[in-house]
Amino acid sequence: VMCVSVNAFAQDYPATNKTITFVLPYAAGGPTDKAARDLAQSMSKAMGGHSIVIDNAAGASGSIGANKVAKAAPDGYTLLFTHIAQATLPSFFRNLPYNVEKDFEYLGLVSENPMNLIGRPSLPANNMAELVSWINANKGKINISNAGPGSASHLCGMLFQSTLKVDMTSVPYKGTAPAMTDLIGGQVDLMCDQTTTTIPQIEGKKVKSFAVTTPTRLSSPVLKDMPTMQEAGLKDFTVTIWQGLYAPKGTPAAVLKKLNDALKVAVKDPEFIRKQDAGGASVINDARNDPAGHKAFVMSEVAKWAPIIKAAGVYAD
Ligand code: MLT
Repeated sequence: VMCVSVNAFAQDYPATNKTITFVLPYAAGGPTDKAARDLAQSMSKAMGGHSIVIDNAAGASGSIGANKVAKAAPDGYTLLFTHIAQATLPSFFRNLPYNVEKDFEYLGLVSENPMNLIGRPSLPANNMAELVSWINANKGKINISNAGPGSASHLCGMLFQSTLKVDMTSVPYKGTAPAMTDLIGGQVDLMCDQTTTTIPQIEGKKVKSFAVTTPTRLSSPVLKDMPTMQEAGLKDFTVTIWQGLYAPKGTPAAVLKKLNDALKVAVKDPEFIRKQDAGGASVINDARNDPAGHKAFVMSEVAKWAPIIKAAGVYAD
């Protein structure tokens, strides 16, 4: 009986009257929100127009939203869309309320995003050399915003401070969208954010841009003349953020297959590719689109970041 009902359930998935929700753990208007909305649109198209909505469950470095999905019914209607935090939060929290390896089904990675060091418009520096001089002349007075310990913006800012051997005051927000508002307003000095959301602000001359975190310059028309951190003299400084989709552990295999099939169609959708490209991001189109490749990659990232975070001695709880 159990078998029959599970199969019947998977066959009906997704039921016409049931919306699929992508829970994402950061504020609306930020880079994770943007990537999730782009994917939701293309996956919805791939699923015959089935409705996919976004739930911004922001806070506690992104752990609130991830925990919500870890504890949700494993029925394919509540999914987690998140980034590198899936690999860094296990090291940033002494008591993370979920287990990234055991509490999720891995559905696939979808994109990789470069990052961009930006500053408030009133900063008295117009390039990296001037910025480094200004930072050295103002030690102890500089603040840098982020989305909490373990977030992408925090990792990049942490790396920036350790490379320059300068300590700044971290100002955490529920996502980089509210942090961006304060940067534009001049309440904070610096932020490292993903290019998908910095590009429109740079274009609108709302913030100053100093460097990108990729090994080579980007092709985006807005950032193509921006030096890389390495060109600007910050040796070995590279950061790339990856985004992926997860379901609660125990979701039926047939449901996971339907979701993974839709994800694979979505990453080939010219509209999805165009949107990522416009934001300086690239679409992932390799073994990491598959559950096994996705999980193996995330586990390797957990192992890579653990000693770095431990050495930094920074905790979110
Ligand atoms: C966001 O979407 O707000 C950012 O990705 C958060 C972060 O910097 O990790």
